[in-house]
Amino acid sequence: MSASTAKTIDGLPAEVRAKTALALDVDDLVEALRLARQLSPWFGVAKVGLELYTAAGPDAVGALMDNGFDVFLDLKLHDIPTTVARAARVGGALGATYLTLHAHGGADMLRAGVDGLLEGASNADLPVPMAVAITVLTSDADAPAHIMPNRLRLAVEAGCGGIVCSGATLREARELSPRTVRVVPGIRHAGGEQHDQPHPITPAAAFEEGADLLVIGRAVTQADDPAAAAASLFAELV
Ligand code: C5P
Repeated sequence: MSASTAKTIDGLPAEVRAKTALALDVDDLVEALRLARQLSPWFGVAKVGLELYTAAGPDAVGALMDNGFDVFLDLKLHDIPTTVARAARVGGALGATYLTLHAHGGADMLRAGVDGLLEGASNADLPVPMAVAITVLTSDADAPAHIMPNRLRLAVEAGCGGIVCSGATLREARELSPRTVRVVPGIRHAGGEQHDQPHPITPAAAFEEGADLLVIGRAVTQADDPAAAAASLFAELV
């Protein structure tokens, strides 16, 4: 479907919209909120990464929650367990629904992050959030095949509810741990611009292969018309 035809589609059904995260990879909160509001019919989750968090900090989380989004705080925490626990506690208290931790940090660090996150949310009387472990960075092209399953196991044992994995390892992750939430970046239109993403996959294919939450950035945020790009990206799902 062309972008101009797709403009007539109003948005995703609520149950699908809860499974799409908009990657707000910008360094300005005003710009992030403009994009988030414009694309809210398509995205129920807003991802705040290092760039936006470094620029705007906790205000970014609060503003996106005020606009009705669940917040995916993608800080990829990786430090000594005590520090990770304390940072994760802040993330939990801010109201993040998801917080990422680096599985490379090991079992003790992951456990500390999970405990901190849950404690922060509980102290603030907020719903139970989910710690999401990064298995392998897509930039790490030389990572051997056993790394993802090893880190998945580590993450599950440490109490993480989810992992980030590529479209290429979705099936394997689902087989190894069916109940672990699988978060998948690299979502693109079929045949669309790949950018630096080595494992592009369409939304429909990702869900088919077992994705639970799609992370989507440049395919919509860098389009001339982001709303039309979102409509055409999701056309198969509405
Ligand atoms: O590529 P796109 O803009 O859709 O990226 C969305 C998110 O996917 C980024 O915020 C980043 O967390 C992740 N990403 C990745 N590997 C890449 C590029 C982006 O995991 N090569």
